Amino acid sequence: MKWLSLVGWLWPLCTIIRGTLAVNPPRPRADVSACKLVADQGVYLSAGFGYELNCAPSVGTLSAFMIFVDFSDQSASESSPEVLRDFFLPSAADWYDRASYGALELSVAADTSRFYRMPATAVSYNWERGLTAEQHRRYIQDALAAYGRPIPPVDVLYIVPTKNATAITYSPTFMGNVTKRDGTYVAKKSVTFGYDGYRAWGSLVLNHETGHTMCLPDYYPFNGSATGLFIGGWDLMGLIGGPSPDYFAWDKWRLGWLSDDQVDCVAEAGRTSHILSPLEVSGGKKAVVVKHNDTNALVAEVRSSAGLNSASCATGILLYTVSTKIPTGEGPVRVLDATPGSGGCLGDELNDATLTVDGISSRTVTDWHVRVEVVRRVGADYEVIITSA
Ligand SMILES: *[C@@H]1O[C@H](CO)[C@@H](O)[C@H](O)[C@H]1NC(C)=O
Ligand SMILES: *[C@@H]1O[C@H](CO)[C@@H](O)[C@H](O)[C@H]1NC(C)=O
Ligand SMILES: *[C@@H]1O[C@H](CO)[C@@H](O)[C@H](O)[C@H]1NC(C)=O
Ligand SMILES: *[C@@H]1O[C@H](CO)[C@@H](O)[C@H](O)[C@H]1NC(C)=O
Ligand SMILES: [Zn+2]
Repeated sequence: MKWLSLVGWLWPLCTIIRGTLAVNPPRPRADVSACKLVADQGVYLSAGFGYELNCAPSVGTLSAFMIFVDFSDQSASESSPEVLRDFFLPSAADWYDRASYGALELSVAADTSRFYRMPATAVSYNWERGLTAEQHRRYIQDALAAYGRPIPPVDVLYIVPTKNATAITYSPTFMGNVTKRDGTYVAKKSVTFGYDGYRAWGSLVLNHETGHTMCLPDYYPFNGSATGLFIGGWDLMGLIGGPSPDYFAWDKWRLGWLSDDQVDCVAEAGRTSHILSPLEVSGGKKAVVVKHNDTNALVAEVRSSAGLNSASCATGILLYTVSTKIPTGEGPVRVLDATPGSGGCLGDELNDATLTVDGISSRTVTDWHVRVEVVRRVGADYEVIITSA
């Protein structure tokens, strides 16, 4: 009858805990692991935890090797590839240092000795008519053959063309293992840069594409709708040139840039209070994740105009939903607009989506029985109350 006496001893303890719950409004948080939605391996670049595709490391050092190429029809006129290395670095590495709060070091070795001449013309690689995976592989293997020298063991191979190569129109990431034509393993992934970086994005194109090497999805729609449809300019995996390009707190948590104690998890019905500090500065609580079910969650985070988001045109509490069931390019993350029909700012309806203390200060996600209320500012921080039924 030992267990009976054990139960007898446990019961008053439970009563005490219940009593504490009743009198202390900020209830103990659910175990944060309840909010770590597990990735669906059958969903391409599923936005959950533990997605596996030989992803490049997101904490510690991500090592890369950079080579430079040109073409007989679009040959280099730069005095040296150093100009192009300096186009990307150190700014892209600094960006990761700040976005990751020092957790990720992007370490790039660049062979700037010369441009290596590709065996085929730039136009023949078919960028302008839409590259297939096979054509992409051929481009990478041609570059490796042209380079013809040993490449140190690295996570990612960067192939940078001359600025003259306008036919290499955009900058896709090859997500399969990178091998030479003879099968020799080279790297986990390759980013083949294109003219879009020079024309429009600057070094941030490297941060977008390297995000893919770490298995982050694209947050813009693949179906031809406006780039900002799902998330506006709130993360550079959606819009590289957006006003608030820092990665979502959800992804920073997934990547290991936020520790578990920097995220509050709401997985049960009730009313809870949370003090959140701006995403762009190191330290403090960065997000509340409200678990809806095993595949969907609502996230609240503070966006300010500090750090990497100095160009943002609205600040406050940003709300978005995450689904692990929606693949890259179909809206795995969707920002909830506090001010629909406002016209937005800086060219996108969603760019002023935030809740603020003085403006629209609450949002009810009716289908999910969740209400988010911005109560006050405490310095740069915000207090939010979550009511979940
Ligand atoms: C390529 O470089 C040459 C100089 O070698 C320059 O005159 C020319 O305008 C450039 N071509 C393109 C397409 O940018
Ligand atoms: C890629 O390489 C990794 C590690 O070498 C291996 O585990 C994985 O199976 C490879 N993937 C493919 C598609 O070959
Ligand atoms: C693209 O997909 C989104 C989400 O499903 C949808 O709202 C939008 O209308 C689609 N656009 C086009 C052009 O089909
Ligand atoms: C999880 O929630 C989403 C959004 O409401 C819904 O579409 C999906 O069916 C739910 N999944 C389960 C297993 O209930
Ligand atoms: Zn992309």
